[in-house]
Amino acid sequence: TKILLINGPNLNLLGRREPGHYGHQTLTTIVEALSKSAVQAGVQLEHIQSNAEYQLIDAIHGTDAQFIIINPAAFTHTSVALRDAILGVSIPFIEVHLSNVHAREPFRHHSYFSDKALGVICGLGAQGYDFALQAAIKHLTDQH
Ligand code: DQA
Repeated sequence: TKILLINGPNLNLLGRREPGHYGHQTLTTIVEALSKSAVQAGVQLEHIQSNAEYQLIDAIHGTDAQFIIINPAAFTHTSVALRDAILGVSIPFIEVHLSNVHAREPFRHHSYFSDKALGVICGLGAQGYDFALQAAIKHLTDQH
């Protein structure tokens, strides 16, 4: 079983980027902890972070994962292309945001992904990724 974790633009700056919104943990720390949980659950976690839209699109096209956990970051609010990519491969996904986007600027309230996501988690910081992983594993297990 393989799950693809996708992190969009500027998330490579986690730890030093607006810690009031995004916390103090680095992306490396978050992904390492998540990978450990995945291994314990017997699933493979693949990760890509990119600041380039086409690289995220190519990763989606090329994956053989059965599930995607995605924090599209700013592309959440802008990218029809990334939405079309994820719909194009028909892989179920959960959308994660560290911050509560609904408590922030109005332009963050709309997502090009939420209406197609299995679920959306926001405002719980890095823990949101843990919850998404648990939910993804349960979803994949329930199918079999
Ligand atoms: C984010 C929220 C987005 O609005 C923002 O552009 C990000 C991160 C989050 O995780 O809270 O880059 O997706």
